[in-house]
Amino acid sequence: MTGNSKTLFGVSLVGSGSATPAQRITNDQLAARVDTNDEWVKTRTGIKERRIIGEGDSLSKLCVEAAKAAMEMAGWGIDTVDMIVVATSTPDDLFGIAPKIQSQLGARNAVAFDLTAACSGFLFALVTGAQYLQNGTFRRAIVIGADQLSSWMDWDDRSSCVLFGDGAGAVAIELTSNDQNALIGFKMKSDGSRGECLSVPQKKEFVNLVGSFKNQIGRFSNIQMNGQEVYKFAVREVPLLLKDVLGKHGITAESLDWLLLHQANQRILNAVADRFSIPESKVLSNLKNYGNTSAGTIPIMLDEAVRDGRIQPGDLIASSGFGAGLSWGVALFRWHGKT
Ligand code: ACO
Repeated sequence: MTGNSKTLFGVSLVGSGSATPAQRITNDQLAARVDTNDEWVKTRTGIKERRIIGEGDSLSKLCVEAAKAAMEMAGWGIDTVDMIVVATSTPDDLFGIAPKIQSQLGARNAVAFDLTAACSGFLFALVTGAQYLQNGTFRRAIVIGADQLSSWMDWDDRSSCVLFGDGAGAVAIELTSNDQNALIGFKMKSDGSRGECLSVPQKKEFVNLVGSFKNQIGRFSNIQMNGQEVYKFAVREVPLLLKDVLGKHGITAESLDWLLLHQANQRILNAVADRFSIPESKVLSNLKNYGNTSAGTIPIMLDEAVRDGRIQPGDLIASSGFGAGLSWGVALFRWHGKT
């Protein structure tokens, strides 16, 4: 699915926020549970520690905190928010957490809903939110990416448990004129035929209901991942899609200010950057502190780089989310901030 640059209105990214749990677990601490070590995890993934939701924290709470920070940066009054989209695959409630977040924010004029696309979630939600603005339906939206994969981990599987962490990030976007449009282009893709590489499937457990009728119990298994297949998928598909989107909009890799990829593995980030000869100094990475927070990685990284001054108003950013589904997407956008 490709973005159409001929929209009625433009969209501007005007605020960011993020929140991660207080509980911090290092590689060495994990090694007390599984047969791993700091050197292996650092070398193979770039991760040194991750944040895990513990007692007193919740994913919804992190989302509210991140959204508040994004709105504060944008300078918005809460009543002016029209829509809240929450990208998550691990909601506190299977029916969705966006309305709860809306109510905790006090955003009484906003419609709120969840969107599920695993590690592509934030990018897909950003594009989704932008559509409502670009066609003039809404003026202001908060897009949140957040996940709590720690709850779906087999903590005795060393090949997956070292990779993931929990966290939330948010971006405030608002309608602007078409000539100020910051979402320059995007493309999103899905391939369900490869979905088994990475999934959290429902368990096949049935109980007797009445007579000969049975019903399936609502329980899910832990994350099931073929790490090497996911790795190959990412380093093949992301560069192809990025090349496609850059080419379509006549943008060279050299003119990018930042490469903002889903933070899955430092080796994936390096491999994608190398294909385009993008120097390390332009590759945003905070994997070492948080691991893979799924839908949270892109907005958390964006917020960190905006707040520490690396990302400046007007900077051109190429972003890509990729993961379970399988799904992947690329978006080219400029950070406008609030002028
Ligand atoms: N500590 C020590 N040794 C380990 C660990 C560990 N934590 N995990 C695996 N090993 C061992 C393996 O058992 C294997 O040992 P063997 O050679 O004796 O059999 C050896 O290390 C090599 O294992 P590989 O699986 O070949 O290691 P690889 O270099 O492929 O790295 C990794 C594994 C890190 C999982 C990599 O494949 C990867 O990052 N894949 C992408 C995963 C990913 O990003 N998933 C999330 C996608 S986003 C989403 O949608 C949720």
